[in-house]
Amino acid sequence: MKKTLAFDVYGTLIDTNGVTALLETMLVDQVDGFDKNQRVERAQRFADTWRAKQLEYSFRRGLMKCFEDFTVCTKESLIFTCAYLKTSLTTQQQQQLLDIYKTLPAYNDVAHGLSILMKDHKLIAFSNGTYNSVKGLLVSAGLDKYFAQIVSADEIKTFKPNPDIYQYLLTQSDSTSEVTWLISSNSFDVIGAKAFGLQSAWVKRNDCDVFDPWGVKPDIVVQNLEQLASKLSQQ
Ligand code: 2OP
Repeated sequence: MKKTLAFDVYGTLIDTNGVTALLETMLVDQVDGFDKNQRVERAQRFADTWRAKQLEYSFRRGLMKCFEDFTVCTKESLIFTCAYLKTSLTTQQQQQLLDIYKTLPAYNDVAHGLSILMKDHKLIAFSNGTYNSVKGLLVSAGLDKYFAQIVSADEIKTFKPNPDIYQYLLTQSDSTSEVTWLISSNSFDVIGAKAFGLQSAWVKRNDCDVFDPWGVKPDIVVQNLEQLASKLSQQ
């Protein structure tokens, strides 16, 4: 049966760790005496803190009904991370990091996985990012041709996992909960979709990823989108 597959973007299709190479070069000036491994570790810690704080800011803005779009969450969490990790990046370096966020790479399995999935299903990019950010990322990664539609939380001024955004997805895609799946590596998103009444696949991109222990389980767990295509065909 043809399904509507709504793909989370950041962390599911697009690798937010794509900032670490640039961060490493920036950290060379900051940490005299650090060897290569220590710089890599430090860049990873920076990227992880930035991403976690970016999500936290979106959740808090959603709860407070104090909406600013996801690019603002990304920028403010970068400023926080610099202060928290005592990393003084110039305004120009911060801008370079924000610019690279617009052209982050896709994971290796994504184009092939989507090309298989689009034969049988309707694919939608479904993100907390603004329409323009998501469109730009998909074009830059060569993925826009696989998607019938982009649905952005920005259009209703809230963020996943607010149930309103999953309802908005159904309305915009002219789909029903019975045939709509949320595909995400973010367990908050999978749990949000399940709580709303969608089916959901968790893309466990790293062995060490942990699913939130809320008593809710994804309908399927896959490591990449190629596996998703084969598991969905058995549903
Ligand atoms: C998304 O693309 C923030 O990863 C999240 O909606």
